[in-house]
Amino acid sequence: MLKLLTQVIKVHPQKPEKEVMAKAAEVIMRGGLVAFPTETVYGLGADALNPRAVERIFQAKGRPADNPIIVHLGDLKQLEILTNCVSPRASEVMKRFWPGPLTLIYPRSEKVSPVVTGGQDTVAVRMPRGKVALALIRALGRPIAAPSANLSGRPSGTTAKHVFYDLNGEIDLILDAGPVEIGVESTVLDLSTQPPTILRPGAITTEELRGTIGEVALGKQCQPVTRSPGTRYRHYSPKAEVSLVKQNAWYEIGKLIDQYIAMGKKIGLITRLYYPHFDSSRVIIKVMPRGLGEYAKEMFAALRELDEEGVDCIIVEEVEQKGIGVAIMDRLLRAAAH
Ligand code: TXA
Ligand code: MG
Repeated sequence: MLKLLTQVIKVHPQKPEKEVMAKAAEVIMRGGLVAFPTETVYGLGADALNPRAVERIFQAKGRPADNPIIVHLGDLKQLEILTNCVSPRASEVMKRFWPGPLTLIYPRSEKVSPVVTGGQDTVAVRMPRGKVALALIRALGRPIAAPSANLSGRPSGTTAKHVFYDLNGEIDLILDAGPVEIGVESTVLDLSTQPPTILRPGAITTEELRGTIGEVALGKQCQPVTRSPGTRYRHYSPKAEVSLVKQNAWYEIGKLIDQYIAMGKKIGLITRLYYPHFDSSRVIIKVMPRGLGEYAKEMFAALRELDEEGVDCIIVEEVEQKGIGVAIMDRLLRAAAH
């Protein structure tokens, strides 16, 4: 069957044009799928209160039906549709971090379909601060369900081009406002435990959360991924096989490169150091920014670009596990998990 090309419309990242927002909102209102930038990554949006539209998200991404989707709000009034239980502590946390890259888990109301929550009794909610995302939700006047706009298992999309590459023909519209601001997804926090549990490290750091709510625990999902096969499903993964090496491990990198060359493989290297002595016809080097914030912005793009260069394997140097480095390492470990 011939698939229709997905439409791409440019939009101003800070002052999104009203007509474009109205058009995108109409597509969503009619049950369609619109990819749009948030401050973290591009999201793939559908009307959160239309289960059939949300089902289309799962189809387009090839996402397992039990992986729940985050609902995005334009104002706090919309939270009342989704849950009946907001604790004083949750109110405090929302006041401090919303709009922004923090997702909170609430008991779901009966208005939220189990399609959205992957069959769970809870719903994940956040109010993004990205101007286009907020303008779109406000133009629609309803909450938007949106996972990251990539094929399931692949690195998240941080530009409209990444989204087009993965989802062209599967979705109705992409709003292109250029590269996103942050580059890794929101932090997912469960406030129902004592202390609260970080289910996914992300753009709001553990240090920031501790500064506001005191102790927080790292959830099971956050445990370092072991490399043994079958212990974790692949996620954030390019087509090439990813290996992680410690920082400054130039000797180990050299050995790995020799092994891969002996196997006839084409190699990518993601590093913050400059390695002029590697044979550039065999090793494509992506030199990343030293600063972790800048690194985060470029990480998923670097993995995708090396795929496009046709490398078979990608060696990635670890980064320090502090600040947003915790989220970066979480994504890299999962990309490397077999
Ligand atoms: O920054 C972000 O969060 C981006 C942008 C588009 O907002 N969205 C995003 O969505 O990363 P997604 O679907 O790629 O990741 C959502 C994460 C998954 O790990 C999912 O399992 C978790 O949130 N999640 C969703 N609902 C949940 C729930 N009810 N309980 C626990 N975890 C949940
Ligand atoms: Mg995702």
